[in-house]
Amino acid sequence: MKRLFSGMQPTGALHLGNYIGALKNWVALQDKYECIFCIVDMHAITIPYDPKLMRERIFNAAVDYLAAGIDPLKSRIFIQSHVPQHTELAWLFNTVTPLGQLMRMTQFKQKTAQFSDGGEDVKADADGSADERAGFLALAGKVNAGLLTYPVLQAADIMLYKAEAVPVGEDQVQHIELTRDVVRRFNNAYGEIFPNCEALLSNAPRLKGLDGVAKMSKSIGNHIPLSIEPAELERKVTREAVSDPRRVRRDDPGVPEECNVFDWHRIFSPDEDQIWAAQGCRSAGIGCFQCKKKCAENIEKLLAPMREKRERFTKNPDDVWDILNMGAAECLRIAQATMEETRRAMGLI
Ligand code: TYM
Repeated sequence: MKRLFSGMQPTGALHLGNYIGALKNWVALQDKYECIFCIVDMHAITIPYDPKLMRERIFNAAVDYLAAGIDPLKSRIFIQSHVPQHTELAWLFNTVTPLGQLMRMTQFKQKTAQFSDGGEDVKADADGSADERAGFLALAGKVNAGLLTYPVLQAADIMLYKAEAVPVGEDQVQHIELTRDVVRRFNNAYGEIFPNCEALLSNAPRLKGLDGVAKMSKSIGNHIPLSIEPAELERKVTREAVSDPRRVRRDDPGVPEECNVFDWHRIFSPDEDQIWAAQGCRSAGIGCFQCKKKCAENIEKLLAPMREKRERFTKNPDDVWDILNMGAAECLRIAQATMEETRRAMGLI
């Protein structure tokens, strides 16, 4: 079986975007690959955070993985910092990674804008002005070096286990491409040690948030946590989710294809509810509130069993820590072998 690696940052409660873009795929791929799922705490500390909350966040991420259906009997789950070889390999990879390529990474530019400035007014997409701004802020000392070399650590995460498949959302594809570049450069310099890897995308690799515009993201606050309670889920979807702006009044017809709530129906609802929503919207037979309420009910059908499992794990925290420790012990063995081979190839031993 080929090996698969992926990870999430413990930046708080995981949300529907994480699930639909990646976690759901992880669960489905467990029988096709030898899977390693990581909680990437070393990545999470590249932005401001509260150390008092970190342990709890790591725990919650692990519980979310398990509640979503990651099976510790099939897959390894562990905390990145428990296997120190991740940072060691990242250092070695730094030496074959051009600085310019790191400075051009979209996520680096976005985070630079977001965390050095309050950020809302900075349009941090791939355009030149954001480039210049990111460069300027970085040089002005407002950005830590970890944020810049973040994707190199990600490349090390994957290659420490020589993983060939990396299930992620669309926003991570650039980092997987960088991983391939790092591998190519490393192998050219020191011999064929690392394999090629590819991103595996789900059928909804970029789920939009409640605002119907931006990618669902905790840092923007347009997200729905996987751990949300049913009443709050209904409130958020019916009151906060932006739907088709054409439907100002109840009897204005809408265009479902241009409505984010309909996109969510396509992901979370069975066929009959999708048809009901599309026809009702076009003919103004149903109102947006009804349509959203049905959508919330279908999201709840997905989240209810996770909630039950989450409670079970939360009540037995030692079981969760045991799973994480066991995962780390197994990953450590693989990591040590890769590092031995890598150090040898580089003439270090
Ligand atoms: P992170 O923690 O930001 O997100 C975890 C995963 O969720 C996906 N995702 C989404 N997918 C679809 N729609 C959305 N709205 C959405 N929001 C998040 C992300 O694409 C990701 O797959 N750098 C990574 C973590 C990482 C990693 C790795 C991933 C570190 N090392 C090695 C794979 C392999 C990150 O920040 O993900």
